Amino acid sequence: MLAAYYERRGSSDVLDVGEIPTPGPGVGEVRVRLQVAAVNPTDWKSRSHTAPMDFERQVPGQDGAGVIEAVGPGVDIARIGERVWVYHAALQRPFGTAAQFTVVPSHQAVRIPDGVPVDQAAALGIPYLTAYGCLFADGPIEGQTILVHGGAGAVGHAAVQLARRAGAHVISTVSSEAKGVIAADAGAHVVIDYTADGAADAIRSAARAGVDRIIEVDLTRNLDVDLAVLVGGGAIVTYAADAADPVIPVRGLMTRNARLSFVLVYGFAPALLADGVAEVSSALAAGDLVPLPIVRFALTETAAAHDAVQSRTPAKVLIDIP
Ligand SMILES: NC(=O)c1ccc[n+]([C@@H]2O[C@H](COP(=O)([O-])OP(=O)(O)OC[C@H]3O[C@@H](n4cnc5c(N)ncnc54)[C@H](OP(=O)(O)O)[C@@H]3O)[C@@H](O)[C@H]2O)c1
Repeated sequence: MLAAYYERRGSSDVLDVGEIPTPGPGVGEVRVRLQVAAVNPTDWKSRSHTAPMDFERQVPGQDGAGVIEAVGPGVDIARIGERVWVYHAALQRPFGTAAQFTVVPSHQAVRIPDGVPVDQAAALGIPYLTAYGCLFADGPIEGQTILVHGGAGAVGHAAVQLARRAGAHVISTVSSEAKGVIAADAGAHVVIDYTADGAADAIRSAARAGVDRIIEVDLTRNLDVDLAVLVGGGAIVTYAADAADPVIPVRGLMTRNARLSFVLVYGFAPALLADGVAEVSSALAAGDLVPLPIVRFALTETAAAHDAVQSRTPAKVLIDIP
């Protein structure tokens, strides 16, 4: 099969595109003929990590969508021909989604409801499951006020939609008018420019009694604002670690009985992950999810696709699989 792959970690120069053996599905697995792969920050981060390689050769890419074309022992052959989106394809596995085929455990290939475009389905995995965990790890959020920082980013955009669907009052921050439109179209009741003076006051007045839960992409920069708007007993849930670590204002957090928690989608308990998949599937089938703007690359341009994500292209980066 044709695949993008690397045999040592490093800059995007380590990525090659060429023929490698097609994997066969083992017990409980399915083989998916991919049509579109979606790129996430995790793909370039794990490619450029300093840790030793997990496998001799790694095909990158956690997310994608296509059609099941073979099943391993123990999987219903009726699944052959099913349109599916795939998640965690490269999690401790060598065959990610930047290739003509991937092999994953059957439950990681999730049926795409009729009428849902393959581009939208390909981009669900990491962002939507992360957003689900951030929002629902402590239980239902109906009636709560949720602040989603960066509502035009992949995880933030997913969080706005899932929070709105769950019956929350959703406030989102962005850094530009164009991103504000994206967050509002996703369902944010109120959109606030976090770069403007008075952002904390604007959030506080939009939040009425205060914010119950904050979905945080930049704890270091936003912690003061978060503390200023959080209700007593509220939660700040952080899923990104791009900035230097913050100084933790222990007294400020303590006096609000605040909960500071951290989320990594790869470590979700199986039940939380399964609930996330079920909720994303229901939301998709109900037509409640909207895609982000897209930038496309050919499989031969996988290095450029990684670079586009690393340089924070404000769009979902997809790879077309030939
Ligand atoms: N823990 C996990 O399991 C997990 C899962 C997925 C992603 N991540 C990590 O989360 C980060 C974001 O991933 P992504 O795919 O969502 O990236 P993305 O699509 O680039 O989105 C990031 C968003 O954050 C916004 N942003 C940056 N600084 C902000 C601030 N101070 N306040 C409010 N918004 C801010 C950006 O908007 P502006 O540029 O306009 O500010 C952008 O829209 C990456 O570091 C990624 O590795 C972690």
